[in-house]
Amino acid sequence: MIRLENLTKHYGPAHDPLIAVDNVSLDLPTGEICVLLGPSGRRAVGPSGCGKTTTMKMINRLIQPTGGKVFINGKDTSTVDPIELRRSIGYVIQQIGLFPNKTIEENICVVPDLLGWDRRKSRDRAKELLELVGLQPDLFLKRYPKELSGGQQQRVGVLRALAADPPVMLMDEPFGAIDPINREVIQEEFLKMQREIRKTIIFVSHDLDEAVKMADKIAIFRSGKLEQYAAPDDLLARPANSFIEDFLGSDRALKRLRLVSVGDAMETDFITVLETDSVEHARARIRSSRSAAAFVLDAEGAPRSVLSEQVAEACSGTVGDHAEPVKSTVPLTGDLRQAVSVMFAHDMPLLPCIDEAGRLAGVMSYRSIVHHLGHGGKA
Ligand SMILES: Nc1ncnc2c1ncn2[C@@H]1O[C@H](COP(=O)(O)OP(=O)(O)O)[C@@H](O)[C@H]1O
Ligand SMILES: [Mg+2]
Repeated sequence: MIRLENLTKHYGPAHDPLIAVDNVSLDLPTGEICVLLGPSGRRAVGPSGCGKTTTMKMINRLIQPTGGKVFINGKDTSTVDPIELRRSIGYVIQQIGLFPNKTIEENICVVPDLLGWDRRKSRDRAKELLELVGLQPDLFLKRYPKELSGGQQQRVGVLRALAADPPVMLMDEPFGAIDPINREVIQEEFLKMQREIRKTIIFVSHDLDEAVKMADKIAIFRSGKLEQYAAPDDLLARPANSFIEDFLGSDRALKRLRLVSVGDAMETDFITVLETDSVEHARARIRSSRSAAAFVLDAEGAPRSVLSEQVAEACSGTVGDHAEPVKSTVPLTGDLRQAVSVMFAHDMPLLPCIDEAGRLAGVMSYRSIVHHLGHGGKA
Protein backbone atom coordinates (compact mmCIF):
# COMPACT_ATOMS: atom_id res chain seq x y z
CA MET A 1 0.00 0.00 0.00
CA ILE A 2 1.10 3.57 -0.69
CA ARG A 3 0.10 6.34 1.65
CA LEU A 4 0.76 10.03 1.18
CA GLU A 5 0.33 12.05 4.34
CA ASN A 6 0.13 15.84 4.10
CA LEU A 7 2.72 15.79 1.35
CA THR A 8 3.85 19.34 0.56
CA LYS A 9 6.43 20.99 -1.67
CA HIS A 10 7.37 24.68 -1.65
CA TYR A 11 9.75 26.37 -4.07
CA GLY A 12 11.40 29.76 -3.74
CA PRO A 13 11.76 32.00 -0.70
CA ALA A 14 10.17 30.84 2.55
CA HIS A 15 8.33 34.15 3.04
CA ASP A 16 6.68 33.92 -0.40
CA PRO A 17 6.87 30.33 -1.64
CA LEU A 18 5.45 28.87 -4.82
CA ILE A 19 3.34 26.06 -3.43
CA ALA A 20 3.76 23.25 -5.98
CA VAL A 21 2.07 20.57 -3.82
CA ASP A 22 -0.20 21.52 -0.96
CA ASN A 23 -0.95 19.05 1.84
CA VAL A 24 -1.83 16.07 -0.30
CA SER A 25 -3.03 12.93 1.51
CA LEU A 26 -4.22 9.72 -0.09
CA ASP A 27 -4.15 5.93 0.30
CA LEU A 28 -3.66 3.52 -2.57
CA PRO A 29 -4.21 -0.21 -1.92
CA THR A 30 -1.65 -2.74 -3.17
CA GLY A 31 -2.15 -3.80 -6.78
CA GLU A 32 -4.19 -0.74 -7.81
CA ILE A 33 -3.54 2.06 -10.28
CA CYS A 34 -3.94 5.63 -9.11
CA VAL A 35 -3.97 8.26 -11.85
CA LEU A 36 -2.89 11.75 -10.81
CA LEU A 37 -4.95 13.87 -13.18
CA GLY A 38 -5.04 17.57 -13.94
CA PRO A 39 -3.96 20.19 -16.44
CA SER A 40 -0.32 19.81 -17.42
CA GLY A 41 2.42 22.40 -17.05
CA ARG A 42 4.29 21.08 -20.03
CA ARG A 43 1.72 22.34 -22.49
CA ALA A 44 2.33 25.57 -24.35
CA VAL A 45 -1.10 26.96 -23.55
CA GLY A 46 -3.50 26.56 -20.68
CA PRO A 47 -3.01 26.61 -16.94
CA SER A 48 0.40 25.88 -15.48
CA GLY A 49 1.30 22.60 -13.81
CA CYS A 50 -0.85 21.52 -10.91
CA GLY A 51 1.69 19.43 -9.01
CA LYS A 52 1.29 15.94 -10.44
CA THR A 53 4.93 15.34 -11.40
CA THR A 54 6.18 16.96 -8.21
CA THR A 55 3.93 14.66 -6.14
CA MET A 56 5.18 11.63 -8.03
CA LYS A 57 8.85 12.57 -7.67
CA MET A 58 8.45 12.97 -3.93
CA ILE A 59 7.44 9.29 -3.80
CA ASN A 60 10.84 8.12 -5.04
CA ARG A 61 12.52 11.18 -3.50
CA LEU A 62 13.84 12.61 -6.74
CA ILE A 63 12.32 15.64 -5.04
CA GLN A 64 12.68 16.15 -1.31
CA PRO A 65 9.33 17.05 0.32
CA THR A 66 9.06 20.35 2.24
CA GLY A 67 6.61 18.59 4.55
CA GLY A 68 4.60 15.44 5.00
CA LYS A 69 5.44 11.79 4.54
CA VAL A 70 5.25 8.91 2.11
CA PHE A 71 4.67 5.38 3.39
CA ILE A 72 5.15 2.28 1.26
CA ASN A 73 3.75 -0.87 2.86
CA GLY A 74 3.69 0.97 6.15
CA LYS A 75 7.36 2.01 5.98
CA ASP A 76 8.21 5.71 6.18
CA THR A 77 10.30 6.21 3.03
CA SER A 78 12.29 9.07 4.56
CA THR A 79 14.06 6.40 6.63
CA VAL A 80 15.22 4.53 3.49
CA ASP A 81 18.38 5.42 1.58
CA PRO A 82 17.16 7.38 -1.51
CA ILE A 83 19.24 5.32 -3.95
CA GLU A 84 17.94 2.06 -2.49
CA LEU A 85 14.44 3.48 -2.59
CA ARG A 86 14.71 4.42 -6.27
CA ARG A 87 16.00 1.00 -7.23
CA SER A 88 12.99 -0.57 -5.53
CA ILE A 89 10.52 1.57 -7.47
CA GLY A 90 9.98 1.28 -11.23
CA TYR A 91 9.96 4.62 -13.03
CA VAL A 92 8.69 5.38 -16.53
CA ILE A 93 8.87 8.89 -17.99
CA GLN A 94 7.19 10.42 -21.04
CA GLN A 95 10.48 11.11 -22.82
CA ILE A 96 11.18 7.37 -22.45
CA GLY A 97 14.84 8.07 -21.74
CA LEU A 98 16.37 4.89 -23.14
CA PHE A 99 20.16 4.99 -23.26
CA PRO A 100 20.91 5.50 -26.98
CA ASN A 101 24.31 3.77 -26.84
CA LYS A 102 22.98 0.65 -25.10
CA THR A 103 21.14 -2.20 -26.78
CA ILE A 104 17.54 -2.99 -25.86
CA GLU A 105 18.79 -5.88 -23.73
CA GLU A 106 21.24 -3.63 -21.88
CA ASN A 107 18.57 -0.99 -21.41
CA ILE A 108 16.13 -3.46 -19.88
CA CYS A 109 18.84 -4.89 -17.64
CA VAL A 110 20.02 -1.57 -16.18
CA VAL A 111 18.44 -1.97 -12.76
CA PRO A 112 19.02 -5.73 -12.40
CA ASP A 113 22.69 -5.06 -13.23
CA LEU A 114 22.83 -2.29 -10.62
CA LEU A 115 21.28 -4.69 -8.13
CA GLY A 116 23.98 -7.23 -8.95
CA TRP A 117 21.68 -9.88 -10.41
CA ASP A 118 23.27 -12.89 -12.00
CA ARG A 119 23.86 -12.01 -15.67
CA ARG A 120 22.08 -15.07 -16.96
CA LYS A 121 19.04 -14.35 -14.81
CA SER A 122 18.73 -10.72 -15.95
CA ARG A 123 19.18 -11.68 -19.64
CA ASP A 124 16.47 -14.31 -19.30
CA ARG A 125 14.27 -11.71 -17.70
CA ALA A 126 14.78 -9.29 -20.62
CA LYS A 127 13.77 -12.00 -23.04
CA GLU A 128 10.70 -12.93 -21.04
CA LEU A 129 9.60 -9.29 -20.79
CA LEU A 130 9.96 -8.64 -24.53
CA GLU A 131 7.81 -11.67 -25.23
CA LEU A 132 5.19 -10.31 -22.85
CA VAL A 133 4.61 -7.29 -25.12
CA GLY A 134 4.95 -9.15 -28.39
CA LEU A 135 8.44 -7.96 -29.34
CA GLN A 136 10.39 -10.99 -30.59
CA PRO A 137 13.55 -11.25 -28.47
CA ASP A 138 15.62 -12.57 -31.39
CA LEU A 139 14.80 -9.46 -33.37
CA PHE A 140 15.00 -6.84 -30.64
CA LEU A 141 17.49 -7.75 -27.89
CA LYS A 142 20.53 -6.60 -29.83
CA ARG A 143 19.00 -3.55 -31.48
CA TYR A 144 19.56 0.05 -30.43
CA PRO A 145 16.71 2.38 -29.40
CA LYS A 146 16.86 4.48 -32.57
CA GLU A 147 16.11 1.36 -34.64
CA LEU A 148 12.72 1.04 -32.91
CA SER A 149 9.46 2.94 -33.52
CA GLY A 150 8.20 5.34 -30.85
CA GLY A 151 5.65 2.82 -29.63
CA GLN A 152 8.25 0.05 -29.43
CA GLN A 153 10.63 2.32 -27.51
CA GLN A 154 7.84 3.17 -25.09
CA ARG A 155 7.17 -0.53 -24.50
CA VAL A 156 10.86 -1.04 -23.74
CA GLY A 157 10.72 1.94 -21.36
CA VAL A 158 7.94 0.20 -19.44
CA LEU A 159 9.78 -3.13 -19.48
CA ARG A 160 12.93 -1.50 -18.14
CA ALA A 161 10.94 -0.18 -15.18
CA LEU A 162 9.53 -3.67 -14.62
CA ALA A 163 12.79 -5.56 -15.01
CA ALA A 164 13.71 -5.91 -11.36
CA ASP A 165 10.08 -6.72 -10.51
CA PRO A 166 9.51 -3.74 -8.19
CA PRO A 167 6.22 -3.80 -6.26
CA VAL A 168 5.64 -0.10 -6.98
CA MET A 169 5.75 1.73 -10.32
CA LEU A 170 5.69 5.43 -11.05
CA MET A 171 4.65 6.39 -14.57
CA ASP A 172 4.74 10.04 -15.66
CA GLU A 173 2.57 10.55 -18.76
CA PRO A 174 4.09 7.32 -20.08
CA PHE A 175 2.02 7.15 -23.26
CA GLY A 176 1.71 10.89 -23.87
CA ALA A 177 4.16 11.02 -26.78
CA ILE A 178 2.51 8.20 -28.72
CA ASP A 179 -0.03 8.77 -31.49
CA PRO A 180 -3.65 8.15 -30.44
CA ILE A 181 -4.11 4.79 -32.20
CA ASN A 182 -0.94 3.22 -30.83
CA ARG A 183 -1.66 4.77 -27.46
CA GLU A 184 -4.93 2.81 -27.22
CA VAL A 185 -3.07 -0.37 -28.13
CA ILE A 186 -0.33 0.19 -25.56
CA GLN A 187 -2.88 1.10 -22.87
CA GLU A 188 -4.78 -2.14 -23.48
CA GLU A 189 -1.56 -4.12 -23.52
CA PHE A 190 -0.45 -2.51 -20.29
CA LEU A 191 -3.76 -3.22 -18.55
CA LYS A 192 -3.58 -6.83 -19.66
CA MET A 193 -0.08 -7.08 -18.22
CA GLN A 194 -1.18 -5.35 -15.01
CA ARG A 195 -3.91 -7.96 -14.48
CA GLU A 196 -1.09 -10.47 -14.13
CA ILE A 197 1.65 -8.49 -12.42
CA ARG A 198 -0.61 -6.53 -10.02
CA LYS A 199 1.82 -3.69 -9.33
CA THR A 200 0.87 -0.73 -7.20
CA ILE A 201 1.05 2.13 -9.67
CA ILE A 202 1.02 5.90 -9.53
CA PHE A 203 0.35 7.17 -13.02
CA VAL A 204 0.40 10.83 -14.10
CA SER A 205 -1.87 11.94 -16.92
CA HIS A 206 -3.59 15.05 -18.23
CA ASP A 207 -5.92 12.95 -20.38
CA LEU A 208 -9.29 12.22 -18.80
CA ASP A 209 -10.09 9.37 -21.19
CA GLU A 210 -6.80 7.70 -20.35
CA ALA A 211 -7.46 8.14 -16.63
CA VAL A 212 -10.96 6.70 -16.85
CA LYS A 213 -9.60 3.73 -18.75
CA MET A 214 -6.53 2.98 -16.65
CA ALA A 215 -7.41 4.01 -13.09
CA ASP A 216 -8.76 2.19 -10.10
CA LYS A 217 -8.63 5.59 -8.39
CA ILE A 218 -8.35 9.07 -9.89
CA ALA A 219 -6.78 11.94 -7.95
CA ILE A 220 -7.76 15.29 -9.46
CA PHE A 221 -5.29 18.09 -8.85
CA ARG A 222 -5.69 21.82 -9.10
CA SER A 223 -2.94 24.30 -8.16
CA GLY A 224 -1.12 21.76 -6.02
CA LYS A 225 -4.24 20.68 -4.14
CA LEU A 226 -6.01 17.34 -4.30
CA GLU A 227 -9.58 18.28 -5.26
CA GLN A 228 -11.16 14.82 -5.37
CA TYR A 229 -9.98 11.25 -4.92
CA ALA A 230 -12.41 8.63 -6.17
CA ALA A 231 -12.96 5.62 -8.41
CA PRO A 232 -13.58 6.70 -12.03
CA ASP A 233 -17.26 5.84 -12.00
CA ASP A 234 -17.80 7.68 -8.71
CA LEU A 235 -15.96 10.69 -10.01
CA LEU A 236 -18.02 10.84 -13.21
CA ALA A 237 -21.26 10.22 -11.34
CA ARG A 238 -20.57 12.62 -8.46
CA PRO A 239 -18.03 15.37 -9.17
CA ALA A 240 -17.25 17.12 -5.88
CA ASN A 241 -17.37 20.70 -7.18
CA SER A 242 -17.89 22.87 -10.25
CA PHE A 243 -14.19 22.90 -11.18
CA ILE A 244 -14.25 19.12 -11.46
CA GLU A 245 -17.55 19.17 -13.28
CA ASP A 246 -16.04 21.52 -15.89
CA PHE A 247 -12.89 19.43 -16.09
CA LEU A 248 -14.89 16.25 -16.71
CA GLY A 249 -16.90 17.91 -19.47
CA SER A 250 -20.56 17.93 -20.38
CA ASP A 251 -20.29 14.44 -21.87
CA ARG A 252 -19.28 12.80 -18.61
CA ALA A 253 -22.34 10.53 -18.73
CA LEU A 254 -21.04 9.17 -22.05
CA LYS A 255 -17.60 8.65 -20.52
CA ARG A 256 -19.16 6.48 -17.84
CA LEU A 257 -20.58 4.15 -20.47
CA ARG A 258 -17.27 2.42 -21.06
CA LEU A 259 -16.96 1.62 -17.34
CA VAL A 260 -20.11 -0.46 -17.23
CA SER A 261 -20.27 -3.95 -18.69
CA VAL A 262 -23.23 -5.07 -20.77
CA GLY A 263 -23.75 -7.99 -18.39
CA ASP A 264 -24.16 -5.60 -15.44
CA ALA A 265 -26.68 -3.30 -17.08
CA MET A 266 -28.86 -5.53 -19.26
CA GLU A 267 -32.34 -6.68 -18.33
CA THR A 268 -32.63 -10.44 -17.98
CA ASP A 269 -36.43 -10.77 -17.79
CA PHE A 270 -36.94 -10.90 -21.56
CA ILE A 271 -39.71 -12.79 -23.32
CA THR A 272 -39.23 -15.53 -25.91
CA VAL A 273 -41.89 -16.93 -28.22
CA LEU A 274 -42.00 -19.45 -31.06
CA GLU A 275 -42.41 -18.53 -34.73
CA THR A 276 -45.49 -20.72 -34.77
CA ASP A 277 -47.10 -18.92 -31.79
CA SER A 278 -49.97 -16.59 -32.56
CA VAL A 279 -49.37 -12.86 -32.42
CA GLU A 280 -52.23 -12.73 -29.96
CA HIS A 281 -50.33 -15.01 -27.58
CA ALA A 282 -47.16 -12.91 -27.96
CA ARG A 283 -49.16 -9.71 -27.37
CA ALA A 284 -50.60 -11.09 -24.12
CA ARG A 285 -47.12 -12.08 -22.93
CA ILE A 286 -45.70 -8.65 -23.77
CA ARG A 287 -48.60 -6.83 -22.09
CA SER A 288 -48.20 -8.79 -18.88
CA SER A 289 -44.45 -8.03 -18.68
CA ARG A 290 -42.11 -5.04 -18.49
CA SER A 291 -40.72 -5.92 -21.92
CA ALA A 292 -41.39 -4.01 -25.11
CA ALA A 293 -40.81 -6.98 -27.42
CA ALA A 294 -40.64 -10.77 -27.67
CA PHE A 295 -37.69 -12.64 -29.18
CA VAL A 296 -37.67 -15.74 -31.33
CA LEU A 297 -34.67 -17.99 -30.74
CA ASP A 298 -33.13 -20.59 -33.00
CA ALA A 299 -32.43 -24.18 -31.89
CA GLU A 300 -29.16 -23.10 -30.25
CA GLY A 301 -30.81 -20.31 -28.26
CA ALA A 302 -29.46 -17.50 -30.42
CA PRO A 303 -31.83 -14.55 -31.02
CA ARG A 304 -33.10 -14.79 -34.58
CA SER A 305 -35.99 -12.33 -34.83
CA VAL A 306 -37.96 -9.89 -32.73
CA LEU A 307 -41.63 -8.96 -32.49
CA SER A 308 -42.00 -5.45 -31.11
CA GLU A 309 -44.85 -4.32 -28.91
CA GLN A 310 -46.15 -1.95 -31.63
CA VAL A 311 -46.25 -4.70 -34.25
CA ALA A 312 -47.83 -7.15 -31.79
CA GLU A 313 -50.55 -4.61 -30.99
CA ALA A 314 -51.28 -3.88 -34.65
CA CYS A 315 -51.14 -7.31 -36.30
CA SER A 316 -52.65 -10.76 -36.20
CA GLY A 317 -51.56 -14.14 -37.57
CA THR A 318 -48.41 -15.93 -36.44
CA VAL A 319 -45.24 -14.48 -34.96
CA GLY A 320 -43.29 -15.83 -37.94
CA ASP A 321 -45.28 -13.62 -40.32
CA HIS A 322 -44.41 -10.38 -38.55
CA ALA A 323 -41.21 -10.72 -36.51
CA GLU A 324 -38.23 -8.79 -37.90
CA PRO A 325 -34.73 -10.25 -38.19
CA VAL A 326 -32.32 -9.31 -35.42
CA LYS A 327 -29.87 -6.88 -37.07
CA SER A 328 -27.12 -7.04 -34.49
CA THR A 329 -26.18 -8.18 -31.00
CA VAL A 330 -23.65 -7.24 -28.33
CA PRO A 331 -21.59 -9.63 -26.18
CA LEU A 332 -22.12 -9.73 -22.42
CA THR A 333 -18.48 -8.83 -21.96
CA GLY A 334 -18.79 -5.64 -24.00
CA ASP A 335 -19.29 -2.23 -22.40
CA LEU A 336 -22.22 0.15 -22.57
CA ARG A 337 -20.43 2.42 -25.01
CA GLN A 338 -20.26 -0.45 -27.46
CA ALA A 339 -23.91 -1.28 -26.84
CA VAL A 340 -25.07 2.31 -27.37
CA SER A 341 -23.01 2.55 -30.52
CA VAL A 342 -24.68 -0.57 -31.99
CA MET A 343 -28.14 0.64 -30.90
CA PHE A 344 -27.63 3.94 -32.73
CA ALA A 345 -25.97 2.45 -35.79
CA HIS A 346 -28.79 -0.05 -36.40
CA ASP A 347 -31.65 1.95 -34.88
CA MET A 348 -32.34 -0.81 -32.36
CA PRO A 349 -34.22 0.36 -29.25
CA LEU A 350 -33.83 -3.20 -27.90
CA LEU A 351 -30.46 -4.80 -28.33
CA PRO A 352 -30.07 -8.55 -27.64
CA CYS A 353 -27.06 -9.35 -25.43
CA ILE A 354 -25.45 -12.71 -26.05
CA ASP A 355 -23.18 -15.03 -24.08
CA GLU A 356 -20.03 -16.74 -25.37
CA ALA A 357 -22.09 -19.43 -27.10
CA GLY A 358 -24.20 -16.83 -28.89
CA ARG A 359 -27.29 -17.49 -26.77
CA LEU A 360 -29.65 -14.71 -25.76
CA ALA A 361 -28.74 -13.73 -22.19
CA GLY A 362 -30.38 -10.34 -21.80
CA VAL A 363 -31.69 -7.25 -23.49
CA MET A 364 -30.32 -3.72 -23.49
CA SER A 365 -32.70 -0.82 -23.75
CA TYR A 366 -32.52 2.95 -23.33
CA ARG A 367 -34.34 2.43 -20.04
CA SER A 368 -31.84 -0.09 -18.68
CA ILE A 369 -28.96 2.27 -19.49
CA VAL A 370 -30.57 5.28 -17.84
CA HIS A 371 -31.55 3.15 -14.86
CA HIS A 372 -28.02 1.88 -14.44
CA LEU A 373 -26.35 5.29 -14.78
CA GLY A 374 -28.92 6.84 -12.46
CA HIS A 375 -27.97 4.41 -9.72
CA GLY A 376 -24.31 5.34 -9.68
CA GLY A 377 -22.99 2.44 -11.69
CA LYS A 378 -21.94 -0.98 -10.51
CA ALA A 379 -23.51 -1.93 -7.21
N1 LIG B 1 12.24 23.08 -9.68
C1 LIG B 1 11.22 23.94 -9.62
N2 LIG B 1 11.39 25.19 -9.18
C2 LIG B 1 10.35 26.06 -9.10
N3 LIG B 1 9.09 25.75 -9.42
C3 LIG B 1 8.84 24.51 -9.86
C4 LIG B 1 9.89 23.53 -9.98
N4 LIG B 1 9.33 22.38 -10.44
C5 LIG B 1 8.02 22.63 -10.60
N5 LIG B 1 7.72 23.90 -10.26
C6 LIG B 1 6.37 24.52 -10.29
O1 LIG B 1 5.52 23.72 -9.50
C7 LIG B 1 4.22 23.61 -10.09
C8 LIG B 1 3.86 22.17 -10.30
O2 LIG B 1 4.70 21.59 -11.29
P1 LIG B 1 4.55 20.09 -11.78
O3 LIG B 1 4.49 19.19 -10.60
O4 LIG B 1 5.65 19.82 -12.74
O5 LIG B 1 3.16 20.12 -12.51
P2 LIG B 1 2.45 19.04 -13.47
O6 LIG B 1 3.24 17.78 -13.47
O7 LIG B 1 1.10 18.89 -12.88
O8 LIG B 1 2.39 19.65 -14.83
C9 LIG B 1 4.29 24.43 -11.37
O9 LIG B 1 3.77 25.72 -11.10
C10 LIG B 1 5.76 24.49 -11.67
O10 LIG B 1 6.06 25.66 -12.39
MG1 LIG C 1 4.15 16.86 -15.20
